[in-house]
Amino acid sequence: MRGGAFASFACIALAGCSGAQSVLAPAGEQAAGIHKLFWLMIAVGGFMYLLVMAGLGWSLWRARRQRAATPAIDPKDARLDRSLILWAGLIVVGLTVLITGSFLADRMLAQGRARDALEVRVTGHQWWWRVEYRDPATGGWIETANELHLPLGRTTRVSLGSSDVVHSFWIPSIAQKLDMIPGRINLIDLTPTRAGWFRGQCAEFCGAQHAHMAFDVKVESQAEFDRWLAVQARPAAAPADAVAARIIEQGSCAMCHRIRGTAAAGRAGPDLTHFASRRSVAAGTLPMTRGAIQGWVMQPQAAKPGTMMPPTGLTPAEGDAVARYLETLR
Ligand code: CUA
Repeated sequence: MRGGAFASFACIALAGCSGAQSVLAPAGEQAAGIHKLFWLMIAVGGFMYLLVMAGLGWSLWRARRQRAATPAIDPKDARLDRSLILWAGLIVVGLTVLITGSFLADRMLAQGRARDALEVRVTGHQWWWRVEYRDPATGGWIETANELHLPLGRTTRVSLGSSDVVHSFWIPSIAQKLDMIPGRINLIDLTPTRAGWFRGQCAEFCGAQHAHMAFDVKVESQAEFDRWLAVQARPAAAPADAVAARIIEQGSCAMCHRIRGTAAAGRAGPDLTHFASRRSVAAGTLPMTRGAIQGWVMQPQAAKPGTMMPPTGLTPAEGDAVARYLETLR
């Protein structure tokens, strides 16, 4: 019985150690460094722990045997002064080494080493991510949301900001986490070393839907990445369907969302120009399927209570028309 409970606990605890969001399966240079440091700390800390426990056990054992024979400590004993000086000296030397090491490590982290890094801006919003890529052709910015594409083996330098409260940007498999603070820009370098899909998650409590503030990360070859970015730079086709056109271009959608190539030019919510090219809806909350899209546009508050997207009051037929159009935005 007890063994079964332990096995289930171990399964639950270890389930987090693999997959798309694990610090124990690094897929980036930065995460690999942290992973190495983690095991070094476990080894050194574990060794020190065993050493201290052995010392404690030994002194307890000795004290019990010698209790009767030990003379009282004489405070005028010169050996006490000498050992006090020795220990104080060791503490000062230890602290100096640690402070110097920490200073040098911080400087190295702050510098980064990216030369021709890809430039990306990510802004945290309650509860989604605005993502902008520097356009290599025009020098302008190409906007998307809730999904990050990174070229394999190349460093991407991400400028992190926030539009409302403090969020924290974290892709556990690829790099350390870094806070996104309103009014300032923090820089983080990401150098992925393994292709595939990964998951990022907001790592600072930022309100009711903090847990539903995630994003998908795709690491792909430079050629695949260039193709993807070229598609993202293109405008979309306006809705051909009259119902979808009325709701999206003249209705409430256009107040918050932008779809380049159409009359929808809102800036408050995520850019939807290539919405259906993404893997999930509402910052990792729902999968990208027709049913999920329709459910989301009709009842956003049901899927993500408290989201800034208000109830839309669409009829099922209108919801269907909008979902069908959104699905074409690849
Ligand atoms: Cu944003 Cu937690």
